[in-house]
Amino acid sequence: MTVELAPAPSPTAAPAPRPRIFSGIQPSGLVHLGNDLGAIRNYVMLQFEYEAIYCIVDYHALTSTHDADVLRSRTREMAAGLLALGLDPERCTLFVQSHRPEHTELMWLLSTVTPVSWLERTPTYKDKIATQPDDVNHGLLTYPVLQAADIVIYKASLVPVGKDQAAHLELSREIVRAFNNRYGDTFPEPQAVYTPAPVVLGTDGVKKMSKSVGNTIDILGDPDVIRKQVMSMVTDTKRILRTDPGRPEVCNVCQLHRFFGDDYEDIWDGERTARTGCVDTKKLLAQRIIDHYAPARERYAELMANPAEIDGILEAGADRLKPKAQATMDEVRHRMGLR
Ligand code: TYM
Repeated sequence: MTVELAPAPSPTAAPAPRPRIFSGIQPSGLVHLGNDLGAIRNYVMLQFEYEAIYCIVDYHALTSTHDADVLRSRTREMAAGLLALGLDPERCTLFVQSHRPEHTELMWLLSTVTPVSWLERTPTYKDKIATQPDDVNHGLLTYPVLQAADIVIYKASLVPVGKDQAAHLELSREIVRAFNNRYGDTFPEPQAVYTPAPVVLGTDGVKKMSKSVGNTIDILGDPDVIRKQVMSMVTDTKRILRTDPGRPEVCNVCQLHRFFGDDYEDIWDGERTARTGCVDTKKLLAQRIIDHYAPARERYAELMANPAEIDGILEAGADRLKPKAQATMDEVRHRMGLR
């Protein structure tokens, strides 16, 4: 969906409250290109128009990350990455999920309106059973209920995410409907907001870019690693010889050029007519990604050298949200007969 800008307020009117948006991201290591093109670019843009709340979801990460030190350092790395890419703590609220424990209480309450069958049919749950068969923990099954709680505890109506989160968002909407039907109108139904790149494929050119698949381009990492990751990208598998005309419409490298530079048509034409080879196009893409993210990489290094600054921002974010989270919990407990 596209986000429509609100009309300019009249000079005499009191400023209307800005609609609230919420999104979450797992602390799963360095930010990758899929995170940025699929979601973070919208986080940054929307903080200027909306009351924006962004959360590093460490509770969710516990379903797959079991080393305490690793989780702690990844949480800080993700915060530094988001700030380096443009989240401004003056314009949005950035916090860590476990710093607002109301999320897990609300999750329990929402779980009582959520049929188990809805959770068992979630595509990500089925994927996880396949990818971590020895660790099919209960958290994987109830993961989407916690995600719904994250959003609705702040009564957010818009959720900037990549397309891979569509099923979770739909489930959040169903949970909201089930709750509102049983206990009265309490929560708005959240809607997804997508970027122009809602699905970014990984370096294999087949699966969505993801840390767990190992097909990422780590935009804030070492430029040499970025170069290697881009040079390993699978292009058009039917283009065997350098002189074969390519199919830019299926070439992941060509498609990513859309977002780096203003000569996409020329790159497309070069591949189609075999004027350029895959290696040329990859080298150019690697350099453009390295250059594009150079300022963010520098800021990331500065932040990582000053963990107290990161921790201060995260703590202030969680504190700012306390009254909102507690007000929702009071209302929900009352509606459910707990007070
Ligand atoms: P996560 O951590 O997997 O991803 C964070 C954001 O990045 C987007 N994304 C992508 N977009 C396009 N192409 C890709 N290859 C790609 N990879 C990741 C994701 O869509 C997401 O927007 N369950 C969520 C975290 C979450 C959440 C929430 C999100 C917890 N609570 C509440 C929204 C609202 C997740 O694991 O995202």
